[in-house]
Amino acid sequence: MNELNGSGVQREEWSSRFAFVMAAVGSAIGLGNVWRFPWLVAQNGGAAFVFVYLALLVFIGYPILLAELTIGRAARRAPHVALGTVSGKPFWNIVGWLGIFAGGIFVLSYYNVVGGWTIKYMILSLTGLIEEANAGNAGSIFGTFVGAKHEQVGFMVLFMAVVMFYIARGVKSLEWANKWMMGTLFVLVLVLVARSLTLDNREGVMAGINYYLNPDFTKVTFRTCLSALGQVFFSLSLGLGAMLIYGSYVKKEENIPAAAGWTAGLDTGVSLLAGLIIFPAVFALMGAGAGEAATKAGPGLTFIVLPEVFAKMPFANSLFSFLFFLLLFCGAATSAMSLMEVAAGFAAEKFGLKRAHAVYLMGTIIILLGGYSAISLSGDPKVFAPWAGKLVDFFDFMDELCNNVVMPLGSMLLCLFVGWVWCDPALKEITNDGKLSASQFALTIWIWVLRIFAPVAIAIIGLTGLGVIKIG
Ligand code: PHE
Repeated sequence: MNELNGSGVQREEWSSRFAFVMAAVGSAIGLGNVWRFPWLVAQNGGAAFVFVYLALLVFIGYPILLAELTIGRAARRAPHVALGTVSGKPFWNIVGWLGIFAGGIFVLSYYNVVGGWTIKYMILSLTGLIEEANAGNAGSIFGTFVGAKHEQVGFMVLFMAVVMFYIARGVKSLEWANKWMMGTLFVLVLVLVARSLTLDNREGVMAGINYYLNPDFTKVTFRTCLSALGQVFFSLSLGLGAMLIYGSYVKKEENIPAAAGWTAGLDTGVSLLAGLIIFPAVFALMGAGAGEAATKAGPGLTFIVLPEVFAKMPFANSLFSFLFFLLLFCGAATSAMSLMEVAAGFAAEKFGLKRAHAVYLMGTIIILLGGYSAISLSGDPKVFAPWAGKLVDFFDFMDELCNNVVMPLGSMLLCLFVGWVWCDPALKEITNDGKLSASQFALTIWIWVLRIFAPVAIAIIGLTGLGVIKIG
């Protein structure tokens, strides 16, 4: 059944469960899984981090994902009015506004820059990256590229153009892009895992797997938990309104807990497989000692270490490198689409614009901000970050503002809203007015996680991220 939304326009809907899950998975799977997860694992002591991540995903991430989708479907409105619409309390719209500014505009402005890098590296893979990496130049290539302002802006705009092209044409086009890009991504992930696990240096491959999957729980510290929880939010696209607006296109008869389960499961599966691509390959091709150090390289792991690893592969290395960056591009583009949809959905409803016009308007603003973030990589201009007490690059500023402040805050407010303000209607909505058979026990746990457990855990993370609480 189609309903009118607030501006009198019939609300579009996902055409099937599959389409909805692919869109939600498209939002969730992105740079967070393939670019961020592996080096976070390495920097936090390997497998123990993976286990902590999984636990937090089940106990905090999944309940919040449910909350966000449920509010979206009940409201059938863009995030800036969704919480007020369902509860009659406009104060709570603050959560949607946070998402629009922080997610739609701020996160995208740097996410797009890295999205642009994936296009550049696809091209480079076919035009000499491997030879240069072989000659030990992967680091300097990356450094030169990041410092080249025109190129940074150009690739960022190109990336945004792809994102805007698909979402300007409506929910059906968004569906199409997500199905194809996610389909491609799943195939590529499996191809690359197979390539990695069948490398000749068996001992190296096993050392990589061992480091990645054999936990040493003595390494778990409070910090491990904090990084893992931050990654859960980022990876499941929580707290910025992305899942909320995708939820607003969900049919009334859809089974939200099941669809959310698929989303969280596939997202986690791809993160785990990304680790299975990277750890065995890096350990086998660089040697266990050097491999362990290399995986700790942080954000540079993907763009500096991996080209070196591909260069050492026995054959078709340009092709594998190209496929890897294509995979990263597909993930980044579909995630960026969900963030752009938050901004565009807002502009369409708020100013009564046609979807395409809303996309162009918000796209232009995002490109202007993204341009600033892109050129700031070469050093100037710097912005003061109060939580770090120092001047940082605009790019880092955006990243830290969102991860340290906005995502935790948005998610915490969502929890409190559903747990304390909108609890009974939420239970009705999530069970499709009682038509879905859900165990009372599971529903009670869900509500109490949102009421107490998750907000407390998030408060600790947020305060630590801001430096209010200092730990070891
Ligand atoms: N989940 C995306 C990723 O893992 C990033 C993202 C965050 C997308 C928040 C939308 C909203 O790359």
